[in-house]
Amino acid sequence: MSQATIESILKEQRTFPPSPEFAAQASISSMDEYRQLYEKAQADPAGFWAELAEQELHWFQKWDQVLDWQPPFAKWFVNGKLNLSYNCLDRHLTTWRKNKAALIWEGEPGDSRTLTYAQLHREVCQMANVYKQLGVKKGDLVGIYMPMIPEAAIAMLACARIGAAHSVIFGGFSAEALKARLLDANAKLVVTADGGFRKDKIVPLKPAVDEALQDDGVPSVDNVLVVRRTEQKIHMEPGRDHWWHDLQAGASKDCPAEPMDSEDLLFILYTSGTTGKPKGVVHTTGGYNLYTHITCKWTFDLKDTDVYWCTADVGWITGHSYIVYGPLSNGATSLMFEGAPRPSNPGCLWDVVEKYGVTIFYTAPTAIRALIKMGEHLPNARDLSSLRILGTVGEPINPEAWMWYHRVIGGGRCPIVDTWWQTETGGFMLTPLPGATATKPGSATFPFPGIIADIVDLEGNPVADNQGGYLVIKHPWPSMMRTVYGDDERFRRTYWEHIAPQDGQSLYFAGDGARRDEDGYFWVMGRVDDVINVSGHRLGTMEVESALVSHPAVAEAAVVGRPDEVKGEDVFAFVTLEGSGDGSEALAEELKAHVVKEIGAIARPSEIRFTDAMPKTRSGKIMRRLLRNLAAGQEVAGDTSTLEDRSVLDKLRGGA
Ligand code: WT7
Repeated sequence: MSQATIESILKEQRTFPPSPEFAAQASISSMDEYRQLYEKAQADPAGFWAELAEQELHWFQKWDQVLDWQPPFAKWFVNGKLNLSYNCLDRHLTTWRKNKAALIWEGEPGDSRTLTYAQLHREVCQMANVYKQLGVKKGDLVGIYMPMIPEAAIAMLACARIGAAHSVIFGGFSAEALKARLLDANAKLVVTADGGFRKDKIVPLKPAVDEALQDDGVPSVDNVLVVRRTEQKIHMEPGRDHWWHDLQAGASKDCPAEPMDSEDLLFILYTSGTTGKPKGVVHTTGGYNLYTHITCKWTFDLKDTDVYWCTADVGWITGHSYIVYGPLSNGATSLMFEGAPRPSNPGCLWDVVEKYGVTIFYTAPTAIRALIKMGEHLPNARDLSSLRILGTVGEPINPEAWMWYHRVIGGGRCPIVDTWWQTETGGFMLTPLPGATATKPGSATFPFPGIIADIVDLEGNPVADNQGGYLVIKHPWPSMMRTVYGDDERFRRTYWEHIAPQDGQSLYFAGDGARRDEDGYFWVMGRVDDVINVSGHRLGTMEVESALVSHPAVAEAAVVGRPDEVKGEDVFAFVTLEGSGDGSEALAEELKAHVVKEIGAIARPSEIRFTDAMPKTRSGKIMRRLLRNLAAGQEVAGDTSTLEDRSVLDKLRGGA
């Protein structure tokens, strides 16, 4: 965050209570009601979650024990049997929702498609049967590398249906990144498309799969299922690659949902951390189903008449929990959009709101800031009166952006839910409830019922009001990540050992700094580790550094986030070269392209500064704080007495 953002957040005093009309129709309609739920959950967490699990989900077999907690390993609804795809589809078919729109899809070139619950169920069954035909069994893993088309959701639900786990890999990741993720998870099948449409361009996907799999690059993969989308000419490897439409034609529309153990692996989703290799975040079935269901229901005050739209990509946790599983488990109508605002169509989001009468709109602060730049005349020229709730996620929202969102998009009448959560938490942790909570611009307000959050120092002691500290969670919750795929030790080390209370309590540390104000509101201030947030996408600085040093010309690289008005942060790299080579503009471009090849376009450095030495401490640690100051064009702040060679700093200031 920039200094200006931090200062404006610190000064923020305004509060926005829900209007009496909004509160009157909301399912949780006052702070008293919120407090009652919160206290009930705190007093008896097992009882609270068991009651909801019984009320809200279908179980083939009831659990024996609500929670088995052997810190840091949790099991929820032990021995319970259920199926997430059943809860998202089958149970709605015996109600009037059978012919209700489950997915409304708006494609980039202007094509569109609506799938009712009955239709979605049929296609999911067909894809599940195709999986079986291709040899995928319960417990196998399917890699999904897709554009934003209904088949992406269908592919996920088909996995859940037969008990195969999925690993969705964002379509913007490169062949290298795709390969690393498929290898780590031992994927048997890859579901992809010829390509997708993104901002007036065709993004090829199948060629990246070919590259990842060439020379038996991922030996576990036997088959590739390809959805036709862009009609580009692609290579189809005989015996390995199959067109979805060919196999769909012969597939039965009936496929029973496999009763899964509550703790069976549901999916892996890779996310960046402080060390080089992205980690596979593991989510399991029962707890994830319940928590995404209930957070989606209460935070968005879901009604059967809602048209709910989350603008995320299914490749991220937001898409998993709040485009696919949360909304469908509730029988809601979820809108999926392949497009994005762009110079040739800057008003496209508002056209979609108007076209479908969207009532709930959920997006990221970076998108809001980009929309502000495009101008108010765009939303003002459309009818946005259908909107009743707005949401934001991904990074702290600056109060100016919040106010614009509230005034211009929400017409001053829509509550804004600022939801703080992570890939690891599965669902919302801090969030307003729109009919109850008086919001403050820039604050994610209060913990969801059942979430015991606190702000502490390194020893786990709560800090005073308005004092910054580490944001921790003190009690397990149903959709918490279970482990790092294949690496329990890394799970323990990464999340449970940074904050070490004397009494041995286990605290989950999220990686964020936060403060709580005198009214008890939480204000998330951003990451305190080496993770940067570029347009709401999380990147490990080490990950980008490893990509840079894998280039033969690079000796050492240090990557930091530089504040950016729209993106939040962008990637700034300091690089020392092998030998006596001087950095040229051409080499900088080559290195940027190299990072795109290794990771994907989201990691492309916006600037590379060549230097013959890095500022280091006497023990050889790169002083990143100094580099962050330099990247931001600020004077180097704070203590520099541990710097080994002071002349390095002067040279860096001068630039390359
Ligand atoms: C990190 C998690 C959860 C889906 C999107 C990103 C930051 C997320 C907020 C918010 C302030 C936020 C945190 C968090 N973050 N939402 N409302 N206010 N910061 O998921 O890639 O796992 O990233 O995003 O820093 O730790 P993710």
